[in-house]
Amino acid sequence: MISTNQMEIADETIDLTQISLRPLNLSDLDDLMVWTTDEKVAKFCSWEPYTSKEEGINFIQNIATKFAWCRAIYLNDRAIGCISLTSNSEHDKTREKSAELGYVVGSKYWGKGIATQVVKQAVKDGFSELTQLMRVEALVDVENVGSQRVLEKAGFQREGILRKYIFLKGKGRDMVIFSFLSSDPHL
Ligand SMILES: CC(C)(COP(=O)(O)OP(=O)(O)OC[C@H]1O[C@@H](n2cnc3c(N)ncnc32)[C@H](O)[C@@H]1OP(=O)(O)O)[C@@H](O)C(=O)NCCC(=O)NCCS
Repeated sequence: MISTNQMEIADETIDLTQISLRPLNLSDLDDLMVWTTDEKVAKFCSWEPYTSKEEGINFIQNIATKFAWCRAIYLNDRAIGCISLTSNSEHDKTREKSAELGYVVGSKYWGKGIATQVVKQAVKDGFSELTQLMRVEALVDVENVGSQRVLEKAGFQREGILRKYIFLKGKGRDMVIFSFLSSDPHL
């Protein structure tokens, strides 16, 4: 029998109570290399698929540590993805009360409700741990419909489309901007 916290998709069952967020560390390297080397995962991300473990080590030691908040997404004891909040104030002091949300889930685990659950948790933890935070925003490629659905399900407000907002992987990209404010009701 499947509990309300479980979803059976294809031939695999994921118990969402087994999902947790924990700091990322070097012992997660092999797990991290699974999703960072995957072209499907990198398609809408600013990075190219990794080709060496050195890039993974660099991410854990020098990139993840610079985020305002960053957690590995664990299923039991495997790091199957990552979620982060990046401060928007580095180049603009007026944006110090906002942060940008980013997340990836290993493709083997897509479509099981994991991103929706961890986005809700990240919003909750972000507002409670980063006390100055007023706004969490997310920018999503118009073609990345899965990610837009995640944000809608997690209670984010769709604010509009930023036309050709970024140039990524050889193409100008229209981006949908979403936000969640500290005053918005948490789901
Ligand atoms: C986008 C991503 C995080 C979604 O993760 P996920 O764990 O599969 O998402 P969920 O299972 O919580 O899905 C939430 C909803 O989105 C829908 N969805 C997910 N992927 C989808 C896709 N490719 N196309 C259409 N709908 C999709 C699900 O069906 C679900 O909607 P429903 O409950 O109405 O059926 C995952 O595909 C990913 O890591 N992609 C690569 C990295 C990336 O794009 N990150 C976001 C950058 S902005």
